[in-house]
Amino acid sequence: MGVWGRLRGDRRPHCSGLRRDREKLLEVDGSVPYPTRVSKEPLIVGEEIHRSYSLGRKEIEILRGIDLEVGAGERIFLCGASGAGKTTLMYTLAGLERPQRGRVVIGGRDIYQLPRREQARLRNSEMGYIFQNYYLMPELTALENVVIPGRIGGKDLTDRACELLDAVGLAERRDHLPTELSGGEQQRVAIARSLVNAPAIVFADEPTGNLDSRNGSEIMKLLLGFAEELTTTLVVVTHDTDLAKLGDRTLTIKDGTIV
Ligand SMILES: Nc1ncnc2c1ncn2[C@@H]1O[C@H](COP(=O)(O)OP(=O)(O)OP(=O)(O)O)[C@@H](O)[C@H]1O
Ligand SMILES: [Mg+2]
Repeated sequence: MGVWGRLRGDRRPHCSGLRRDREKLLEVDGSVPYPTRVSKEPLIVGEEIHRSYSLGRKEIEILRGIDLEVGAGERIFLCGASGAGKTTLMYTLAGLERPQRGRVVIGGRDIYQLPRREQARLRNSEMGYIFQNYYLMPELTALENVVIPGRIGGKDLTDRACELLDAVGLAERRDHLPTELSGGEQQRVAIARSLVNAPAIVFADEPTGNLDSRNGSEIMKLLLGFAEELTTTLVVVTHDTDLAKLGDRTLTIKDGTIV
């Protein structure tokens, strides 16, 4: 059995609770099955999302009523010029930044209306995050960094973390600290960490932003491959329109809306 098969096989017997939770999350009107690949039913719905920032007395509108839908299992890219609002939109969809107006519905639930504890559970167990600057804990080894999301949820996912590190080609680097890893290697650790809880959705903000083009495209293919194998919905921010072609769909933000 290959790594992917082992990961999938591993998830089912040991994580039936997680799978149940995930099926619950994917229930829209009680009718959406666990996706086999891209489901036509939307998993993420953004409705009339508004966000502005005040600069002195001036109010700058960044997101001007964005509507979007992302299907379960879909791998979408958010593109746009620097300052267009890609990170702002991704954080809003990811449950990290409440919109000033509008709502984000995931699996049929308006996430910002959920009790705080449930929002935290959703972020920890159902979503994985990859940030531009990796945000690895500097005092922890690669393996320790990958197991953190499991620990937060009270689970010991060391075996799965090891398999994920093997899968991203870092079997020999498990016990290294982030400072002992290259940028690309740190980003691989961040990918493994984002997947350790087998989340329904992974949000990635410029995951290849600090890498050269060869490493960047390798990392992106790795991430897309994981998402396909694990039927994870993927929302990736990038300014690289060539890389974005690797996904299922590209949404471009311009002047506060999707064009
Ligand atoms: N906390 C904040 N206060 C004020 N303005 C902000 C804040 N956060 C973001 N902005 C502004 O909102 C705009 C959109 O920022 P955002 O980070 O979403 O852009 P982006 O498309 O991700 O850009 P980049 O490609 O450079 O990462 C920018 O003009 C930025 O200056
Ligand atoms: Mg950004």
